[in-house]
Amino acid sequence: MKKFILSIVIFFIAIQFIKMDIQEHIDAPKELEIKTSKEIAIILKNSCYDCHSNSVNMPLYGYVAPISWYVRDHIKSGRKVLNFSEFNAYDETTQQKKYEKIIDATVIRMPLPSYTLMHKSSELSYDEKQLIKAWVKSKMQE
Ligand code: HEC
Repeated sequence: MKKFILSIVIFFIAIQFIKMDIQEHIDAPKELEIKTSKEIAIILKNSCYDCHSNSVNMPLYGYVAPISWYVRDHIKSGRKVLNFSEFNAYDETTQQKKYEKIIDATVIRMPLPSYTLMHKSSELSYDEKQLIKAWVKSKMQE
């Protein structure tokens, strides 16, 4: 039994050396940041920026394997599909597509449930969803 526990401990120590590298802060020109009202900016920063921006607040468990792989993978793929810090680098057509997806995403599945579990305050309230919807609609071309 002792050997078994020891091998588990060694296993967990060993996997700490398998790093999945994510830059928590990436420098990008300020003008690429999405332009919104203050109200919307606060909602996005609070609920979305930890996966969809160049500045993420890494939680402590983001440093402990294997959870860290999971967290970092979300940041990596979140940034890849939508990065609010570089939103203005997308061409017009792409921006329009992203706006469209933001409405769907906020209604159904964003922020990710595994994230809201640990970040209760990031969950979008009904009012916040309405604000995001109105903002996106105002940005979408007919
Ligand atoms: C915990 C990380 C995390 C948070 C927080 C988060 N997202 Fe995501 N988001 C992802 C990941 C990962 C994907 C891509 C994989 C997928 O579709 O599940 C994604 C996909 C999306 C997409 C689809 C983009 C596309 O082009 O397919 C949209 C839109 C989106 N998120 C919007 C938001 C909004 C708006 C918020 C805040 C209200 C938010 N997300 C918060 C991780 C996150």
